[in-house]
Amino acid sequence: MPERYAVIGNPIAHSKSPLIHAEFARQTGQDLEYGRILGDPEDFPGEVRRFLAEGGLGLNVTVPFKERAWALADEHSPRAETAGAVNTLIRLTDGRLRGDNTDGVGLVRDLADNHGFGFQGARVLLLGAGGASRGVLLPLLETGLARLRIANRTASRALDLARLGAPLGPVEGSGLEALAGERFDLIINATSSGLTDEVPDIPDDCLAEGGWTYDMLYGDRPTAFRRWGQEHGAARALDGLGMLVEQAAESFWLWRGVRPSTAPVIEQLRHPAGLGSRSV
Ligand code: ATR
Repeated sequence: MPERYAVIGNPIAHSKSPLIHAEFARQTGQDLEYGRILGDPEDFPGEVRRFLAEGGLGLNVTVPFKERAWALADEHSPRAETAGAVNTLIRLTDGRLRGDNTDGVGLVRDLADNHGFGFQGARVLLLGAGGASRGVLLPLLETGLARLRIANRTASRALDLARLGAPLGPVEGSGLEALAGERFDLIINATSSGLTDEVPDIPDDCLAEGGWTYDMLYGDRPTAFRRWGQEHGAARALDGLGMLVEQAAESFWLWRGVRPSTAPVIEQLRHPAGLGSRSV
């Protein structure tokens, strides 16, 4: 019988995780089943417990349950501890639940391994100070970057997040207006502004010559921040599709002890084969 995993969120119909994990399982010959659960905001712990009682071995957790998954876990990885949020639940052999967060490592691997960004000595700007920024904080601070600036529309939230990160690496926080005159080698958009096709109000010249931009969102069409990068001379203007697949690969590895190849899956999602497309 295949071993069971699932992603839980609300909404969940749009999630690409079942497709990604099915592809990882096929590729690595792992006998597993990966479903999707529309989470009930009134009873998240009950639903997780039911899934585990029915033999489920692990869950991916997405919006809006990542903080609740953190509260539910019996133990946390250091990166989940810093994130205050869990996107991967692992049932341990003694039945306890371990919470991890693979979002940050997914972001860093996409940038560094898939695209060749050199973090060593880089000046990095992280836009936003909500859950998405906090979720990637520790892995970013572990890359060897020279400094990380967290900038947010509401400055106090950026200062709070920078205070949380300060014992872990070179990080400072500010409002967006304080970016005037500053230059960064990489600007990562972790705000939700793209959901309304907007970009944070940052200076036109804050991307250094040869600098890169990365939008943690992705879409069928270029996201608003990816377009901002293209229009402001970014050497590379990337979106978050690779991060999505890399965070999934890290979860798969945590559960199964096997590392899938991500490149073919990213390619498949980027150019889904369908009517009108051809493979040769
Ligand atoms: P998430 O979990 O996705 O990070 P969140 O906690 O609601 O969601 O945080 C959303 C982030 O996007 C915040 O940093 C928010 O800025 P504020 O703290 O000032 O609200 C940021 N954000 C959303 N829309 C934005 C916009 N149009 N311009 C700039 N920042 C925006």
